[in-house]
Amino acid sequence: MVSTRSSRRSGVGVGVEEDENRIIVVVTGANSGYGLGICQALLSNLSLPPGHPVPASTPQPTALPPSLQHLLSPSSSSSPPLDRGKATKSISETKPPTLTLILACRSETKALEARQTLLEGHEKELSKREKKGMQSREGWLEGLRIVWEGLNLDDPGMGGKGNGVLGFCERLKDGYPHITTLYLNAGIAAFCGLSYLRFIKQIVTEGMPRAMSQPGTWQFEEKGVRSADGERGMVWGTNVFAPYVMIRELVPLLRRSPHTLPFAPRVIYTSSLTARASKLNEHPLDDFQLLDYPHTYSASKYMADLVMVQLDQEYGQPSGEALSDERPVRIFTVDPGCVTTNLGRANFGSIALLVKLKFFLYWLAFYICRLLGSPWHPVYADQGALPMIYAALIPDKYLLEPSQVPSQKFAVHATRWGKTKVDYGEVDKWEEGEELGRGIVERCEVLRKEWRRRSGLE
Ligand SMILES: NC(=O)c1ccc[n+]([C@@H]2O[C@H](COP(=O)([O-])OP(=O)(O)OC[C@H]3O[C@@H](n4cnc5c(N)ncnc54)[C@H](OP(=O)(O)O)[C@@H]3O)[C@@H](O)[C@H]2O)c1
Repeated sequence: MVSTRSSRRSGVGVGVEEDENRIIVVVTGANSGYGLGICQALLSNLSLPPGHPVPASTPQPTALPPSLQHLLSPSSSSSPPLDRGKATKSISETKPPTLTLILACRSETKALEARQTLLEGHEKELSKREKKGMQSREGWLEGLRIVWEGLNLDDPGMGGKGNGVLGFCERLKDGYPHITTLYLNAGIAAFCGLSYLRFIKQIVTEGMPRAMSQPGTWQFEEKGVRSADGERGMVWGTNVFAPYVMIRELVPLLRRSPHTLPFAPRVIYTSSLTARASKLNEHPLDDFQLLDYPHTYSASKYMADLVMVQLDQEYGQPSGEALSDERPVRIFTVDPGCVTTNLGRANFGSIALLVKLKFFLYWLAFYICRLLGSPWHPVYADQGALPMIYAALIPDKYLLEPSQVPSQKFAVHATRWGKTKVDYGEVDKWEEGEELGRGIVERCEVLRKEWRRRSGLE
């Protein structure tokens, strides 16, 4: 069915053609690290031939909350175990969906390079499949769209224009009929060096896997860094506030994701293993932009986790209205483990050759951690991205309702020989953190309204 946006209830934008059979995925920070890994894994999973199961949507026992374990347990007597194969979503035999992948990046050059990398890698994968005798998917490449949309999370996008946050969201509302998955993956840390002495001490006292995934005090961060316009804490603004604004602004598009698609609309936030309540000061709301913190990164990731819990409760519940076409949108947070990416590059100094060497040694150390049995070191970004893909594609029946537990945190589980799994987890101390989460959301909302007012959007 083809209708235009102008026929829609909300009247957001005009003239955008509905595309009932197109999965539309937005990935922030898609040009490197986990973002690129998410895109690679999506292409790999969604390009399979008609009738083929989508591997990343296969329910995993380790990823199920305890109260849903019976769904996959072979020993359960109360309810028959489901066949995992049948529980997996498959590419439709009759109308396989197409894909639009929106690379939401601040640099056009980097995004176009990433697009090229993705297409080349994907074409290689397709020809490998063909050589193995797998049927190819007719029309897949012709229907595939990988596009760049400029997004700078450190810029409000006043006026609802340009590549700032509001400008990006307005452009999406005007240019796309819906969003199926919103990956809020881009993030920053104000890392500025490390103490080798403290690093070695932590390795000796706590072991290498822990020292290399949950740094004690060996990693230095710059304190009080402000956004380019000087109005916010930069790490808070990028990791907490911008994702908050994007969810609020883009939920209407997520709600419009067609029922005909095999996957429900979801938001997936890239959090961290280090996102813990203990990272916040005693009175977090007094400095909610984290300007006086010696370590802002983990604190920002925990704050964002609490925000996601609040928003999942707000948007994830089915609407009470019988005829409502407002679909629930589940919002999850993911711990992708530790992978050597550009995020830690500032730790390595500025001499190009030394940076390369340190980068390699860091990667090697992560590999050794995995060999030592660390579940936190998937080593490769596409492996770290697996829980993010899983969180987006797993059928609803394997999830708890937000009214039960609104804080599911999918976590990567690396295994020694590289067979990455997904673990069930919950946001640290989410029940105690409810009030704080509400407080942060209130403050974010005041600021979002202010942005919108200054932009003439309300
Ligand atoms: N690496 C790890 O071990 C690890 C562990 C846990 C969680 N994470 C999280 O994973 C996510 C992805 O990071 P990564 O490790 O994959 O590192 P990365 O390769 O540095 O990716 C970060 C991405 O965020 C983008 N970004 C940064 N600031 C931005 C801004 N103001 N506006 C728009 N985009 C911006 C970067 O764009 P540019 O290329 O233009 O800078 C880049 O694409 C982050 O949220 C990070 O906190 C990483």
